[in-house]
Amino acid sequence: MARRTAANPPVVGARPATPATARPRIVSRLRVNGRDRAVSPDPDRSLLYVLREELGLTGTKYGCGEGECGACKVLLDGVAVRACQTPIGEALGRSVTTIEGLAQGHRLHPVQQAFVDTSAFQCGFCIPGMIIATVSLLAQNPHPTEKEIRAGLDGNICRCCGYVRILQAVQRASQRSGVESLPGATP
Ligand code: FES
Ligand code: FES
Repeated sequence: MARRTAANPPVVGARPATPATARPRIVSRLRVNGRDRAVSPDPDRSLLYVLREELGLTGTKYGCGEGECGACKVLLDGVAVRACQTPIGEALGRSVTTIEGLAQGHRLHPVQQAFVDTSAFQCGFCIPGMIIATVSLLAQNPHPTEKEIRAGLDGNICRCCGYVRILQAVQRASQRSGVESLPGATP
């Protein structure tokens, strides 16, 4: 900092610098799982980064980071999107549902329950994305054929190759009437 001398007098009327702690914090509001959450405003960060690193919602997984694996899927206004490819700016003002937002208290969402009942897990890493994709699929098509299920989950990769059980889980969920109107299926 320059020393104040006769040749370098203080600027008359200059306002003292505001301590960083006193500056108003600029935040944006993101609606996640039915709650408004404060997040940093940079619109170019990915929704996945904000969910995991700022909000601690680590149920949404970081797989490839390139839009290829589907591990990061969340519902945006009830439709599955890849959070790693979604800038946070696109999600502001809309409704985000993560895997943590599907259960009602201790009661699992029927799609979650179907995956449990079918033992459709091996390592489990892909499962949050699979469940989110299934909720989105059944909201649009409550009783899909096997071919339609395969097409609906086409963007989700299971590295353990547990596709047979996953297919059975989706079929089981689709047999539960009213699944399309349950939490997470709609904004
Ligand atoms: Fe987003 Fe793989 S982490 S698609
Ligand atoms: Fe391991 Fe699908 S259960 S990646």
